[in-house]
Amino acid sequence: MPQYSFDEIPQIEPRSRVAIVTGANEGIGKVTARELARKGWHVILACRNAEKAQNAINDIRQEIQMPDAPLEFLPLDLSSLISVRKFVDEFHQRQLPLHLLVNNAGIFGSSFQLSECGEEIQFTTNHLGHFLLTNLLLDDLRACVPSRIVIVASATHLQATNIEYDDQKRNQPYPTSSFGTFRAALQKYGQSKLGNVMMCTELVHRLGPESRVYCNCLHPGVVKSAIWVNNKWLSRLMRPFMRTVDNGAMTTLYAATHPDIETKNIRGTYFIPSKTLPPPYCRPVSGKVNPLVNDREQCRRLWELSQRLTNLTSTI
Ligand SMILES: NC(=O)c1ccc[n+]([C@@H]2O[C@H](COP(=O)([O-])OP(=O)(O)OC[C@H]3O[C@@H](n4cnc5c(N)ncnc54)[C@H](OP(=O)(O)O)[C@@H]3O)[C@@H](O)[C@H]2O)c1
Repeated sequence: MPQYSFDEIPQIEPRSRVAIVTGANEGIGKVTARELARKGWHVILACRNAEKAQNAINDIRQEIQMPDAPLEFLPLDLSSLISVRKFVDEFHQRQLPLHLLVNNAGIFGSSFQLSECGEEIQFTTNHLGHFLLTNLLLDDLRACVPSRIVIVASATHLQATNIEYDDQKRNQPYPTSSFGTFRAALQKYGQSKLGNVMMCTELVHRLGPESRVYCNCLHPGVVKSAIWVNNKWLSRLMRPFMRTVDNGAMTTLYAATHPDIETKNIRGTYFIPSKTLPPPYCRPVSGKVNPLVNDREQCRRLWELSQRLTNLTSTI
């Protein structure tokens, strides 16, 4: 894989391509939105907090010195399937094309909570919400080929030993001890991120080898962002290994914009940033995946579970 940096992201005809970036008000998502906008993309910031999203838009316009850059906010709370459907309706009302979907938003290690649909909150936000969003936007992406889907997963998916298919067990409250809570929350995060990588594999399979919707997933590295807010001591432990959000966004931006994805027909790859280059450069390489990702039957089973839990009546 080639070295990549912000400067190498292709400049496009201004406003000629549209991207949706979830969780774009801070962290990796904000940098992704910023660098896409800098290179001419029309970027929809799909966020749950209007004020944070508007502040992010103002910051980005200032940072890239483009006061009229086409960045806009559309409300999306991925922990609510109702909100996901509403977001897609609102997006469709805008009658915009869609060339890139970046499933970036995520939460890590929150205390036990069930979402509106009765599923554990990390699994809902990180996996189910994005599963539904992606499915509801697939026709838009297929109408704008070549188009791309980028799924921000995590190396933590390697720690997950299974996807829990039993509804009751999957949504069991965490143990009450602080270590028990931490371990259970981490496991749930890992499962939700395993869901991201398995969804990528299954989606690529379902789209078929001729599809020009290129879907890939990635681990951004250990990144100094707000995601650690629920795990301050772990964040302190990981600090020496942390990269900046700018560097953390490079693997996403590679999968979203590098010409190789199409010219070399790269799909279903799990990218990780190689350690050999200092920031701001990044050389994404193909990473090792959890064995469950290579198990067709497991990926199909997760897809069907996700379809049931999101009440998605039809899918590809
Ligand atoms: N940082 C790391 O070391 C690391 C490592 C591996 C993978 N990742 C993955 O990278 C992605 C980006 O994380 P980050 O590090 O940039 O974290 P971050 O700075 O905390 O950003 C997360 C973004 O997701 C949004 N979000 C959270 N819950 C949401 C919901 N229910 N609906 C809509 N948006 C929601 C947040 O919005 P609010 O501001 O409203 O909360 C925020 O914009 C995540 O998927 C994460 O799992 C990060």
